[in-house]
Amino acid sequence: MSLRQVREVEELEAALSPWWEGGIAFVPTMGNLHAGHLALVARARELAPRVVVSIFVNPLQFGPGEDYQRYPRTLEADRAKLAEAGVDLLFAPPVEVMYPRPLEEISRIHVPRLSEILCGAHRPGHFDGVATVVARLFNLVRPAHAVFGEKDYQQLLIIRRMVADLAIPVTIHGVPTVREADGLAMSSRNQYLDPEERARAPVLYRTLKHTTEALRAGRRDYPELEREATQALLQAGFRAVDYFAILDAEDLTPPRPGRPLAVLAAAHLGKARLIDNLWVAPTQNL
Ligand code: PAJ
Repeated sequence: MSLRQVREVEELEAALSPWWEGGIAFVPTMGNLHAGHLALVARARELAPRVVVSIFVNPLQFGPGEDYQRYPRTLEADRAKLAEAGVDLLFAPPVEVMYPRPLEEISRIHVPRLSEILCGAHRPGHFDGVATVVARLFNLVRPAHAVFGEKDYQQLLIIRRMVADLAIPVTIHGVPTVREADGLAMSSRNQYLDPEERARAPVLYRTLKHTTEALRAGRRDYPELEREATQALLQAGFRAVDYFAILDAEDLTPPRPGRPLAVLAAAHLGKARLIDNLWVAPTQNL
């Protein structure tokens, strides 16, 4: 199957209109694709007869001083991977097509509370930028299904909330995090690590795992568990820990008995800011 690539809205509509009735499954990305993105594509292929992927490094979701300029852009390699994965259409618009008006004048979507905590507290405006671009992409692609990674767990919950609040007619699907053999969650930002940092990076996953095991073993002293984990990361050479948090997995409120928990962390290692999370089932949290 051949991969079509379009850049303009008019071309996109012409290509997609015959597919709307049968249904489209959509995977939004910022490109530099790895096996994590391809797991989303594989899920999308199970959901609908046509699969559309977007690649757009979204300036609205990067703060000043963040990595918008140096974010890896590898369109040719990405195209080859998507063709191989059986994607029907790639939408890779330039900034002027996604945002025909000045960025500071674009209407924004804000999901209260969920987008203000954790990564949102450390990256002000980030999730408004994510919600806004995803809403615009949904309106352009009009998918029946859209697929997101649990790797960005807070993002997944924000998209679900936005879709529910605004009655956007799409079903959101989450796909488990794809990891390297040593446990490090795959991420385009892992390439910012030098070999020595790369060797230390799996400590983030191991620390999350250690915390989930402590929870399963019955510990409920959440603040102490968070402190111990933060110390472990700093001792392993992480420069700063933005957060290490144990929260209700469904709405990121403080833990309540009998509900699933999420353990979420963001920490800086060298030039990279790494995020990861793990989930603890409710039966293990009685
Ligand atoms: P990006 O970082 O390219 O990620 C695109 C999708 O791939 C997201 O849903 C993300 O959660 C998922 N993903 C990334 N690494 C993964 C892994 N190791 N395992 C499973 N899924 C993984 O997230 C974004 O782009 C942007 O914020 C976007 C939603 C496209 C809006 O601009």
